[in-house]
Amino acid sequence: MSGPSRKLWGGRFSKSTSRTVERFTHSLNVDQRMAREDLLGSIAHARMLGKSRIIPRKDAARLVKVLTSLLKEAEQGKLRWDPSAEDIHSAIQTLVEKKAGSAAGRLHTARSRNDQVVTSFRLYSARRIETIERSLLAAQKKLLAQAQSAGPLTMPGYTHWRHAQPVLVAHILLSYLEMFQRDRERLSAARQRTLAELPLGSGALTGTSLPVNRAAVSKELGFSGIKQNSVDAVTDRDFAVETLAALALLGTHLSRLAEEWILWSTAEFGFLSFDEGLLTGSSMMPQKQNPDFLELIRANSSKLIGDQTSFLTLLKGLPSGYQRDLQLDKEIVFEALDRAEGMVEMLAAGVSGLRWNKAALAAQLQDDSLYATDLAEYLVQKGLPFAQAHRVVGQLLTHADQAGQRLSKLTPESFRRFSPAFGRDVLKLFNPAVSVARKRSAGSTHPDEVARQIRRWKSLLKG
Ligand code: ARG
Repeated sequence: MSGPSRKLWGGRFSKSTSRTVERFTHSLNVDQRMAREDLLGSIAHARMLGKSRIIPRKDAARLVKVLTSLLKEAEQGKLRWDPSAEDIHSAIQTLVEKKAGSAAGRLHTARSRNDQVVTSFRLYSARRIETIERSLLAAQKKLLAQAQSAGPLTMPGYTHWRHAQPVLVAHILLSYLEMFQRDRERLSAARQRTLAELPLGSGALTGTSLPVNRAAVSKELGFSGIKQNSVDAVTDRDFAVETLAALALLGTHLSRLAEEWILWSTAEFGFLSFDEGLLTGSSMMPQKQNPDFLELIRANSSKLIGDQTSFLTLLKGLPSGYQRDLQLDKEIVFEALDRAEGMVEMLAAGVSGLRWNKAALAAQLQDDSLYATDLAEYLVQKGLPFAQAHRVVGQLLTHADQAGQRLSKLTPESFRRFSPAFGRDVLKLFNPAVSVARKRSAGSTHPDEVARQIRRWKSLLKG
């Protein structure tokens, strides 16, 4: 069938749509992935139409039966539709017409594509967000396992990419867990917002004169309530913005981690290495084993950040009521969901294939400047004001530099020349295990505190 009659809206038209317009406005290639959700929406809608006596009960029953069999086919990946249909909603309507006979003409009662599309979009997004939440949880568990197996392993901590203070490797790994926990909470909040209020039943923009039971449809589809304003219902895409914001921030975290691991796995640092199966080679330089997967995690985050901006830009000029601009909402969100899912899966694989190089870490921990803050706090414990302690240690460092000596090789007597508060035990401070064990604050890198955090994470992530 061609010409206006195969459209959902053909009646007003005597002429066929221009091919150019059809090609340009076509969205099936993007929205076909919502086939399952469109069917779920239609099943709930048809059932409600029957129960509310808006359509004959036997027509409703026929529709539910046909739609349910289409749903089964969709879930098995067997559903086929006309590839030239305008969108998945029209494509499915055509299938229903083929199978349900005269009842098919009653399915679109009290419904517009405007409330239908955004209902499918919400259902689809929520399902995909949940998958990402689950993958992120799996990645967190792998990070936790790495933190546990790192045990007392210590590394230099950095600020400004300069040696700062010794820190447990586990403490750094747990810091990633904190970021991803917040990401998971944000995703979960976005998912709840997505399913907070059902748009279906709002019609094109003002509602319907037919006695629909919106609460029943909402319940069947797993929404928590119904949209309270029909105009807002068909134009509200805030849930998608919130999803994209959560994904952009997740991407930013993944990118930071990727950047750090790329650097730590260079020949210059040599702190980390990855399972060979994660690395890729060069077509020209035979020696290369590159962490392309991390570079691409870093790169993909730029798309997630851009997606949020694209989406807000898409919305910002729209007046009340559906505008066709909103057709582009889905491709932005779908791509972002696909991308984020791939990045999180890659993270989990990367964490599993990660090995720490103890010798390289130990070599860097020989730098005496890493213990300068411990020296200053030691003096504070002996009663010096911190500002004075800071100055004393600064002068000691300059002295050792000028004398061409290591600070840790000076005698306790030389230390005492800078402050009589130094005791013989000062030389014990130049030790990474001592440094981390001196920390006492809650949330610090003290091994007992880190062990407590590991226990906390075990119970937080279980299940
Ligand atoms: N494919 C369209 C979309 O994704 C369907 C909605 C069309 N509605 C309309 N009033 N033209 O938004």
